[in-house]
Amino acid sequence: MSLHYLIDTYGCQMNEYDSALIASMLEKNGCEPTEDPNEADLFFFNTCSVREKAEESAKARISKMKFYKKRRPWIKFIVTGCMAEHLGPRLIDQVDCIDYVIGPDKYNQIPEILFKHPVIVKKHNVQERVLTGFDIEENYIGEYAKIAHPFSSYVTIQRGCNFRCSYCIVPFVRGREKYRAADDVIYEVEKASERGISEICLLGQTVNAYRNHGTDFADLLVKISEIPGIRRIRFMSPHPRFYTEKLIDVLQSVPEICPHAHIPLQSGSDAILDKMKRRYKVDDFMRILEKFRGKNPDYGLTTDIIAGFVGESDEDFEQTLAAVKEAQFDAAFMFAYSPREGTVSAQETETLSEEQKQERLARLVELQNSITLKRNKLMIGKTEEILVERPSSKDPNEWVGKTGSFKKVVFASKTAKPGDYVKCHINEVRGWTLRGTPVTE
Ligand code: 5AD
Ligand code: SF4
Repeated sequence: MSLHYLIDTYGCQMNEYDSALIASMLEKNGCEPTEDPNEADLFFFNTCSVREKAEESAKARISKMKFYKKRRPWIKFIVTGCMAEHLGPRLIDQVDCIDYVIGPDKYNQIPEILFKHPVIVKKHNVQERVLTGFDIEENYIGEYAKIAHPFSSYVTIQRGCNFRCSYCIVPFVRGREKYRAADDVIYEVEKASERGISEICLLGQTVNAYRNHGTDFADLLVKISEIPGIRRIRFMSPHPRFYTEKLIDVLQSVPEICPHAHIPLQSGSDAILDKMKRRYKVDDFMRILEKFRGKNPDYGLTTDIIAGFVGESDEDFEQTLAAVKEAQFDAAFMFAYSPREGTVSAQETETLSEEQKQERLARLVELQNSITLKRNKLMIGKTEEILVERPSSKDPNEWVGKTGSFKKVVFASKTAKPGDYVKCHINEVRGWTLRGTPVTE
């Protein structure tokens, strides 16, 4: 009888890709997927460390799942991802039901540990149960993520980060930048396209820093756009410093690349950006946005912002609000600052209380919500191509999909199905959501 695995994924898209990579490794070894915890023998928790809350919620979830171990004591709990790398053996002390802790550069050893020479889990033999540490050579060449989606897929092209933003734990849990060979990336996209995937999202912690034997990120985008069947290309998460002229030219001239850029601003104060070691000024950032919106006012722009960074004064925060007004992002991920162990900023005593940080975050969210609504209303009267994702949960005759600029659109259709590209006339905005009607040509 084959073993069943279940993977619980936290955090960013990089983790979603890695979960699919682990799934493919497990299936090569005869395992079968399940979503039913009563059936699972191997429980994977692919975790995030970016904020304290992400770690707390993963730990709480793992502890809650202990219940299944009481009934079926042979099952294994395996923690992977950033929290595995961050806490290593400490995790075994903190959550007593964990069997293995495996960091992001050690996934190739999963089959060895679980199937070839299964380590008999002795409670005190922590060394054999914790596999962490960086391997600059580990790019998972020849391992491809399981394709679980019918038309859209992530493909990781770059891992790690060479920046040292003062708030960020990522370099400590993912190590230095490394880039997958372009041929290996292209092979994965070609195979995905043969399986019906038409939308590809390239992933990396600093995805646009990609370089490999003379191929830079812009070159790679062009190569991917030439693969038959690929109609939409997206990428996450870039760093503003690597928006070169060449890259911007490619983004604007290759039709398969979606007119959407996620560009993390983090703060609208130069003093705070400097303290964050972001290596750009607000003006540099705005100039990048202007290049996109100057040519295409509908270009989708999204961002990440941290409210209440250590040392952020009232004036710094007001500058962030002003920058958000100026930038007119379509959407933003906004967070209250969370000090992370080992980072430079965590060594400084926080200057704001939790309430003050939350209050700033709430003001920021309120402002961005009003801008999102305004930007969505500007779409009324336009015709957009929608990639259909799923039926609407409220009405099975209605479909939900996204524009190239990453806006959600709901429309009624008797013929649409997931994976279709449907031209829609945008009629109205209900709540936040655009609503349209298909255009028959
Ligand atoms: N506190 C709050 N937010 C953070 N982020 C990264 N580190 C922290 C932190 N210590 C946010 C940044 C980043 C996003 C993925 O998470 O905005 O772009
Ligand atoms: Fe979280 Fe960052 Fe790790 Fe992604 S890379 S899972 S966002 S800590």
